[in-house]
Amino acid sequence: MPENNVISKHEALNQWVEQVKELCQPDNVHWCDGSEEENASLCELMVQSETFIRLNPEKRPNSFLCRSDPRDVARVEDRTFICSLDEADAGPMNNWAEPKAMHGTLNGLFNGCMKGRTLYVIPFSMGPIGSPISQIGVELSDSPYVVVNMRIMTRIGAKVLDVLGEDGFFVPCLHSVGQPLAEGQEDVSWPCNPDNRYIVHFPEERSIFSFGSGYGGNALLGKKCLALRIASCMARDEGWLAEHMLILGVKSPAGETTYVSAAFPSACGKTNFAMLIPPDEMSDWKISTIGDDIAWIKPGADGRLYAINPEAGFFGVAPGTSYDTNPNAMDSMLENAIFTNVALTDDGDVWWEEMTEEPPAHLIDWLGNDWTPDCGRVAAHPNSRFTAPAAQCPTIDPAWEDPRGVPISAFIFGGRRMHDVPLVYQAYNWAHGVYLGATMGSEMTAAAEGQLGAMRSDPMAMLPFCGYHMGDYLNHWLKLGKTLTGQPRIFHVNWFRKNEEGKFLWPGYGQNMRVLKWIVERSLDRAGASETPIGWVPSISDMELRGLDMTEEQWDELMAVDPKRLMQQTLSHEELFMKLSDRLPKELIFERQSLVCRL
Ligand code: GTP
Ligand code: SPV
Ligand code: MN
Repeated sequence: MPENNVISKHEALNQWVEQVKELCQPDNVHWCDGSEEENASLCELMVQSETFIRLNPEKRPNSFLCRSDPRDVARVEDRTFICSLDEADAGPMNNWAEPKAMHGTLNGLFNGCMKGRTLYVIPFSMGPIGSPISQIGVELSDSPYVVVNMRIMTRIGAKVLDVLGEDGFFVPCLHSVGQPLAEGQEDVSWPCNPDNRYIVHFPEERSIFSFGSGYGGNALLGKKCLALRIASCMARDEGWLAEHMLILGVKSPAGETTYVSAAFPSACGKTNFAMLIPPDEMSDWKISTIGDDIAWIKPGADGRLYAINPEAGFFGVAPGTSYDTNPNAMDSMLENAIFTNVALTDDGDVWWEEMTEEPPAHLIDWLGNDWTPDCGRVAAHPNSRFTAPAAQCPTIDPAWEDPRGVPISAFIFGGRRMHDVPLVYQAYNWAHGVYLGATMGSEMTAAAEGQLGAMRSDPMAMLPFCGYHMGDYLNHWLKLGKTLTGQPRIFHVNWFRKNEEGKFLWPGYGQNMRVLKWIVERSLDRAGASETPIGWVPSISDMELRGLDMTEEQWDELMAVDPKRLMQQTLSHEELFMKLSDRLPKELIFERQSLVCRL
């Protein structure tokens, strides 16, 4: 490790690092400066320890492949805890544990857990360094993989300590893979402790502890833990929103840019939508990318909402990403990228399902085994991911680091719904829109351990990420809306509807531009729509479908709403409403009654 002179003048931070050092007993402590040299030496260290495989520099400069332990491949929702002082504040959709007892448990787990390892001190900023909307965190981790990923996903290093000064506020985030090394014991390539994982948040203390996993949202603590679970509590207290949303800009042929923000559950198309390339017939429309996963949204003095992307990189789903489906994502990871749990090609590059039409004749799969197209196994894990700097995205918006954020004109909610849910519709008003967000559901994906494909209710795509009671959260949305004079319009979309043969009814990807155009124009009161029981819907003549081979029957199938099925679904929301009943906003009960009456 190169010497550096990172010196913190922050007494409380220094004391905390000392305490953690005493508790966890690492062999060394390294304060990260975020430099190229430091990054290079950490990557080299991981090549030596066989955690990283350096990819062919001709094909993929400065990029690495990493294979995790096969038991540590996704977020662990059932091991995620919100330890509020009052159990009721965590709400029925979070695991809760009594804070003192949990601190006791964590003290036991972390005791001596870094023996034989280096403790890395990672000061990081969520949001542009020094922006009034940004938040500073400090992650203490015994994983060099975490350091090099955090360096892409957030802004890390000495410059963060400068902003922190002697007494600035930061969120302490303690992470360990939970596998200490005895004297002389050889390390494994992906240390973890899968039987003993804890992802723990103390909302009142604003602190985070993570033990036993090295993967994604479990370990990169700026992302889901800080920027969503803890930030959602800050946002509730301070009157803003922390959301599981992408942010994109739509530039019309006339040169006007409209910004929209969309909440889809994990692995349901945010990255793809944030970077979409319009179809040829609509090449006079341009999309720019602000963020692909998280939005922090604050009311401005003008009564509108302004959004920033607190992250600096993408941690995107690899399978399904290709030059056909998402060329901008492909270009973002051409260099300086980390690939986790994808396959390795014979010429030292990466591959995953659907990356190319023809799979290579031979690969080493994500488990390190030989792979051939006829072997009957997937080559990449379904939740394999790429980590890439946002600045490398060809469509990154010039304003993506603007500390003021961009004004939001529309919110879009959507899930992965094989049946029933039409391509697009618009809420009548803010409260109806919040109802649509609250009652959205999706089929579960590989992003979290759980039952793949199972339908579940996922309010505003925040089920795994809301750091407090979901009823209070929905109330916060309703209250915030009332303070706005320029309320964004609210829409619901579904790219995933299938016909009886199991084929997608909508081509998706770049073709989603057609839906986005209608949404943007509706937000500016410039597009037609028909009033229906579910909300405003476009007629086929309201949509730009030129160049798309779609018949009127196909359109009708895509947009069909069966009142009987819809009534059933509406009644099935009773379960959600009962769960939240003690804190469910009355407005949502009223919205449901109105819908039932309209039906
Ligand atoms: P997280 O990073 O987990 O929060 O997910 P995300 O919402 O960013 O998901 P992402 O954009 O990476 O999409 C995940 C999967 O959805 C990929 O396998 C894509 O191929 C697929 N997908 C994305 N957009 C579309 C679409 O418009 N239609 C269809 N059919 N599939 C899509
Ligand atoms: C998600 O699961 O929504 C992600 C990936 O964005 S992770 O960072 O692992 O949570
Ligand atoms: Mn996500």
